Amino acid sequence: MTDFQTQVFSPDDTGVKRAAALLRTGQLVAFPTETVYGLGADACNNSAVARIFAAKNRPATNPLIVHVADLHAAREIADFDACATRLAEAFWPGPLTLLVALRHNAGLSPAITAGLNTVALRVPEHPLARHLLREFGGPIAAPSANPSGRLSPTSAAHVLAGLGGRIAAVLDGGACEVGVESTIIGFDPSPTLLRPGGLPAEIIETCLGQPLSSQSAQPRPSAPGQLAVHYAPRAALRLNATSRDTGEVLLGFGATECDINLSASGDLVEAAANLFHHLRTLDDSKPGKIAVSPIPDHGLGRAINDRLRRAAS
Ligand code: TXA
Ligand code: MG
Repeated sequence: MTDFQTQVFSPDDTGVKRAAALLRTGQLVAFPTETVYGLGADACNNSAVARIFAAKNRPATNPLIVHVADLHAAREIADFDACATRLAEAFWPGPLTLLVALRHNAGLSPAITAGLNTVALRVPEHPLARHLLREFGGPIAAPSANPSGRLSPTSAAHVLAGLGGRIAAVLDGGACEVGVESTIIGFDPSPTLLRPGGLPAEIIETCLGQPLSSQSAQPRPSAPGQLAVHYAPRAALRLNATSRDTGEVLLGFGATECDINLSASGDLVEAAANLFHHLRTLDDSKPGKIAVSPIPDHGLGRAINDRLRRAAS
């Protein structure tokens, strides 16, 4: 279904002003963050938020992250306990989302939280995202700018491939530096890693001076992105592969002979930045299967392995 000619805005003051103007009229605008591109809408406008769910074909039960300019703006939406405050002060702006207690007078569209009494908040670091938040002057709801269940976009071209014709515009800021989505931390009842992401869990644990609980302790995922069906490429994936089988292409890591390498030097930061782009490139070559080299499970490797496991399931 093509409803729009999706406009592409340049990464300058004019582009940001045009993007903010569209957001004010309730339209959807994709914009870059340091992690992945977000699909932005005015978080206080019910029909704008409804458009996000429609454009992505996202189940109404899956709540959205709200992006704000700073901790001060975040406190107008949610209550922060001591741990949440500490993490916000240490890591915002940055690739960290905090699941905090929603203030019911916050004015957010109720669809954002899907009826939960917590809200996911994030202060992005990307200069264009910050510029857009300042120019718009209010909270922006933004899930990753991909059709539900597909890989997150790390370039404007990825956004157009998935949502072109379904959204008003994309602000083109080039490739995303981090390349995997933000780390999500909840606090109920203690600091919990709900989604490994762009900020390594070890760094958060050092800041808090205590280990994070892990999601698996809970009976039901409180970040539905944890559900295994997320991030599926079309090809099947075989993980921890040390060589190619017949009909496979190999997504490598480190010093290995392969079709595309996430990082020939074995750098996890570089590998995360390349992950979704390389997966898309291989997937578009329509292989029978994508084999993937083993990735060390620490630092950004935890987020990479999490996304690969979901892509493989
Ligand atoms: O890096 C990122 O986090 C990107 C950029 C655009 O900010 N956004 C992103 O959004 O990845 P999304 O919607 O693709 O993933 C957000 C995850 C979803 O799995 C959602 O279920 C979870 O956060 N989430 C949001 N609000 C929640 C809430 N109140 N309770 C539990 N989980 C929540
Ligand atoms: Mg997503």
